Amino acid sequence: MLVDELRALLGVDGVLTGGALQARATSWSDPTPPDALALVRPRTTDEVAAVLRLCHAARQPVVVYGGGTNLVHATRTTPRDLIVSLERMASVVAVDAQNQTLTAQAGAPLQRVQEAAAAHGLFFPLDLAARGSATIGGCIAMNAGGVRVLRYGMMRELVLGLEAVLADGVVLTALNAMLKNNAGYDLKHLLIGSEGTLGVVTQAVLRLFPAPRTYATALLAMDEFAQVTALLPLLQRDLGGALASFEVMWNDYYRLTTTPPALGKPSLGQEYAYYVLVEALGGHERFDQVRFEAALDHAAHAGLFDDAVVARSHQQRSELWRIREDSEQIERQHHLTFGYDVSLPIGAMEEYVADVRSAIALHFGADARCWVYGHLGDGNLHINVWAPQLQPQDGDRMAQIVYRPLTAVGGSVSAEHGIGLEKKAFLSLSRTPAEIATMRRLKAALDPHHILNPGKIFDQEEMSHP
Ligand code: LAC
Ligand code: ZN
Repeated sequence: MLVDELRALLGVDGVLTGGALQARATSWSDPTPPDALALVRPRTTDEVAAVLRLCHAARQPVVVYGGGTNLVHATRTTPRDLIVSLERMASVVAVDAQNQTLTAQAGAPLQRVQEAAAAHGLFFPLDLAARGSATIGGCIAMNAGGVRVLRYGMMRELVLGLEAVLADGVVLTALNAMLKNNAGYDLKHLLIGSEGTLGVVTQAVLRLFPAPRTYATALLAMDEFAQVTALLPLLQRDLGGALASFEVMWNDYYRLTTTPPALGKPSLGQEYAYYVLVEALGGHERFDQVRFEAALDHAAHAGLFDDAVVARSHQQRSELWRIREDSEQIERQHHLTFGYDVSLPIGAMEEYVADVRSAIALHFGADARCWVYGHLGDGNLHINVWAPQLQPQDGDRMAQIVYRPLTAVGGSVSAEHGIGLEKKAFLSLSRTPAEIATMRRLKAALDPHHILNPGKIFDQEEMSHP
């Protein structure tokens, strides 16, 4: 039996079933135990390869677990699935200060990687609220974004090389550490953002940067969307590329995260239509704050905001960030909400949000709530919706309201959270038939028995009969 073979391979404590499996939570937000055949905890890439060889031969479906923080049910299991958890492969393997690279095992939490880089005076720029739990492997599988994409790019831009185990147990060693390597296909890009459907990432070489010496942070408030859109290029230009974050909160979101029981302090009045959290990272103690405030002065003279607060201490900076990062309040305070993660051109956002709001009010009543926030500088908005009497079966109708208008403006149903199970039905709104057909050909070539994260991104049946 497969579970016995896995025990022989990984040892008794390397395979959890029954009570030990029941004692585990599905994810950070879902305390129910996973439905699964077993959970295995390999310690090495060779063990992952041996596990996958067995699964390939047995046609055993496999779901990989990292930190359990993904937002699209990309790691949801069925009772048939085998969970491969990378919790025992969580080390930072090496930091190469001269070449500014870091090698980590896939199970290493993002924050551990950030701290290991910092210990060498270096910086791993990817950052998101789930940094303590989200793993490097998960960030790669989902091509994570976060709050500094504007300056440093998504995970895809930060991975130089990786090692992955393919469905049949072949170890794909592609641990490139060069900034430039054009020797044929760059296969790491197939794995990045593949949501666990093309291989199991076991290790990665990440790109580091010099650690910033200064963080200049401010919260700005304004009433007109035109002020927001003009502010972004002004700050980018005036700050000479130092602008790392341009996070926007619509009024409802700011109110929510600055009103008890939320812990955020309303650093600015709660009456403005928009709030923008901006942050510039720099290398010069004496000049950076001066340049930052000169840029804000310039923006003030141009009438691009109506009120502002500049962080004067590390604590004030954390307080400003807490307002933005506390999106958990939405679910904590409202039963059954739907969350979306769309991208669209900045110039189309104001009308899009107004249209979505009025369509939601029309279909779900004037008491419906809509919290809009996100990485505006990246063209990425998060929209969370609640309405009285909302039912799970309303999900499809709500998604139509949020997603349909995106096609006309060239937007996407997923800017950064991925497709998983949640957005499968809407993939074709954002990808052409040729793109989806090519995705299926790649899947069939790399995982002919469909054992890796089956049913995520697209359906297996459809894949076998394209
Ligand atoms: C954020 C997560 C939801 O940006 O992506 O807060
Ligand atoms: Zn986000």
